[in-house]
Amino acid sequence: MPADVPDGYDVLVLGGGSGGYACALRSAQLGLRVALIERDKLGGTCLHRGCIPTKALLHAAEVADTARDGARFGVNSSVASIDMPAVLRYQQGVVSRLHKGLQGLVSAATIDYFPGVGEVTSPTTIRLGDTTLTGRNLVLATGSRARSLPGLEIGGRVLTSDEALTLDVVPGSVIVLGGGVIGVEFASVFRSFGASVTIVEALPRLVPAEEESISKALERAFRKRGIVSRTGARFAGVTQDESGVTVSLEDGSTLSAEFLLVAVGRGPVSEGMGFESAGVVTDRGFVPTDDRRRTNVPGVYAVGDLVPGLQLAHRGFAHGIFVAEEIAGLAPEPVLDRNIPKVTYCDPEIASVGLTEAAARAAYGEVRSYEYNLGGNGKSQILGTAGFVTVVRAVDGPVVGIHMIGARMGEQIGEAQLVVGWDAMPEDVAPLLHAHPTQNEALGEAHLALAGKPLHAHA
Ligand code: NAI
Repeated sequence: MPADVPDGYDVLVLGGGSGGYACALRSAQLGLRVALIERDKLGGTCLHRGCIPTKALLHAAEVADTARDGARFGVNSSVASIDMPAVLRYQQGVVSRLHKGLQGLVSAATIDYFPGVGEVTSPTTIRLGDTTLTGRNLVLATGSRARSLPGLEIGGRVLTSDEALTLDVVPGSVIVLGGGVIGVEFASVFRSFGASVTIVEALPRLVPAEEESISKALERAFRKRGIVSRTGARFAGVTQDESGVTVSLEDGSTLSAEFLLVAVGRGPVSEGMGFESAGVVTDRGFVPTDDRRRTNVPGVYAVGDLVPGLQLAHRGFAHGIFVAEEIAGLAPEPVLDRNIPKVTYCDPEIASVGLTEAAARAAYGEVRSYEYNLGGNGKSQILGTAGFVTVVRAVDGPVVGIHMIGARMGEQIGEAQLVVGWDAMPEDVAPLLHAHPTQNEALGEAHLALAGKPLHAHA
């Protein structure tokens, strides 16, 4: 039950996703009086419609690939069938255990939790049905949702990731519109489950936000897996009937499949929330902030996907914690997009942090980079994966970017972000040992090479 707070809260948080609940938990730890308002389920997109359920699907996909490829390792195995309802039960089991845990955390903390639809009515108030909550600070954390293109209606056989996550059949064929993060992750899942997959991407390469060599390597790996990439291809329209969809492209060609997955980005959730009543300026629905997550209105902050920039759950957590500490007067270090680690969980996995080589050159002038091929890495050979680690440094300066591709390389992002986040020099990293045989050694080898003393690589 909410505590009696006649003089109002210190913090009102609107939205219980990654950004919002992290802010509420940290606020409570710091002794602030905090109310958290959520209209759906605690955990938001990440837990219920994003990171967790998709990664569960990707794990099931990996199990299928392992079974299918067993003979390569002398283990004669095969995939008899994919039981999608059972896959979904496994996926939902993971989600519901984490949801219970999160509900337990929030109820054990001194947070007043209000289920329901909140509407901002002024810079210090949120209306919730007949109740008006008052707070000295508002934190807007209403998140994002899948968006579509003008005139492209979602429904029937035209899906967003929301519908794709609950599809209880394995499609025979899928067209994926958008070769960004969501597009390549779902393409990877569908292919592993046996569907034929074509990705349509408007820009000249898949995962266009990544280093160009990573895009090339992914396209090559996907081609080997039988995934077709139509890059530089612009969507013109789609028709559907009871058996499938026909997509037309601007070059006049058409593609047919059972389903179309639309993965062209995520837009803000801010309409009808009353932000304008508080005088909060929005930009195409997003809420711009400064580095301290302040909106244009004093005392009103925004965090997570609602703030233009990388839409990642861990950015939301960090924003939420930052704002709680800021309100508590701890003057925390700002959370900047530049060094936020990114992992794309398709097969092969992509992991990166910091600047691409081109961005580093623009920022630092001359740079040095080293690409260590996983062909020289024992554990990668054991797993049978191809890929590389590229480390970019300023000349005689710190490491400013690390870019990796290959099976399981997402797990290497922890060290990569410490190196980049702490402005380490390759010479600082080179003496640190990397256990053998691990894929982690590839990171060590790249730093050894950049420090001028390569081991399992040519100088
Ligand atoms: P995205 O921005 O990563 O990719 C969308 C892609 O669609 C772009 O490559 C764009 O060029 C393409 N596109 C746009 N209009 C098009 C058109 N008319 N025809 C063809 N292609 C077109 O957005 P996505 O993949 O929907 O993901 C949304 C957000 O969710 C991203 O910020 C992503 O980082 C985040 N996310 C992160 C994950 C992770 O960290 N593993 C997993 C899934 C999503």
